[in-house]
Amino acid sequence: MLNIMDLTKKTALVLGATGLIGTELVKKISENGEYQRVHLLVRRPIEVESDFCEVHIVDFDELNKYHDLFQVTDVFCCLGTTIKVAKTKEAFRKVDYEYPVEAAKLAKENGAEKFLIVSSMGADPESLFFYSRVKGDVEVTLKSLDLPSLHIFRPSLLLGKREEFRLGEKIAEKASGVINKLMIGPLLPYRGIHARKVAAAMAVMAQSNKKGNHVYLSHEIDSMAGYTD
Ligand SMILES: NC(=O)c1ccc[n+]([C@@H]2O[C@H](COP(=O)([O-])OP(=O)(O)OC[C@H]3O[C@@H](n4cnc5c(N)ncnc54)[C@H](OP(=O)(O)O)[C@@H]3O)[C@@H](O)[C@H]2O)c1
Repeated sequence: MLNIMDLTKKTALVLGATGLIGTELVKKISENGEYQRVHLLVRRPIEVESDFCEVHIVDFDELNKYHDLFQVTDVFCCLGTTIKVAKTKEAFRKVDYEYPVEAAKLAKENGAEKFLIVSSMGADPESLFFYSRVKGDVEVTLKSLDLPSLHIFRPSLLLGKREEFRLGEKIAEKASGVINKLMIGPLLPYRGIHARKVAAAMAVMAQSNKKGNHVYLSHEIDSMAGYTD
């Protein structure tokens, strides 16, 4: 139940709330007392503990139908897939480019103050790698939308427990304990980073007054999170 104090608090919408970063982000913003209502746009039923989180099962191909849900202060986008899961480049691009761009347009139309999105280290429209090219493209398009306050997070390898088994990430995670310690100086942006830290940094930057477009590299995300592992 809302009390009078809650009315002064912000509202948020999260895309990708069921993912590794998204789950941590929802926990974080449910605990930090900044929000009176958080809309979670998902494609399958989920359980949530917090009573101010509202789950909406939506068709991501028709995000426009949920236009009014974007009448919030902050929009967080933690969407993403892999070529292995998506099966085709087109399907991958839909999740990592089309949905975030559509969400950002809806956020702008509805007057959202901030749009915060997880991209990736190496995002570059000119990259030789399809994944990095799509991440680069989404960044370029989002920047061109002239959003009031855009925050792009570029983590390196994500650490954390995920249900889906990803062999490459598992091996890299095992090695990262030792390797991370060796990554200093110019190698800092390549250190693996826990999904919880990325979520914490997003929650921190959602409270900043920074206007315009901002991009954060992995080691910057690490320091923003406000704690050490
Ligand atoms: N893995 C890494 O090491 C790494 C490194 C740097 C950056 N990143 C980027 O960080 C972001 C978040 O990564 P993550 O590991 O937290 O992601 P994740 O665990 O794979 O979760 C992805 C989220 O996107 C949703 N999603 C996927 N396909 C969808 C579709 N077709 N329609 C609607 N929703 C869909 C998932 O929903 P369901 O739960 O319903 O599937 C989930 O909520 C991604 O953009 C990723 O590219 C990852």
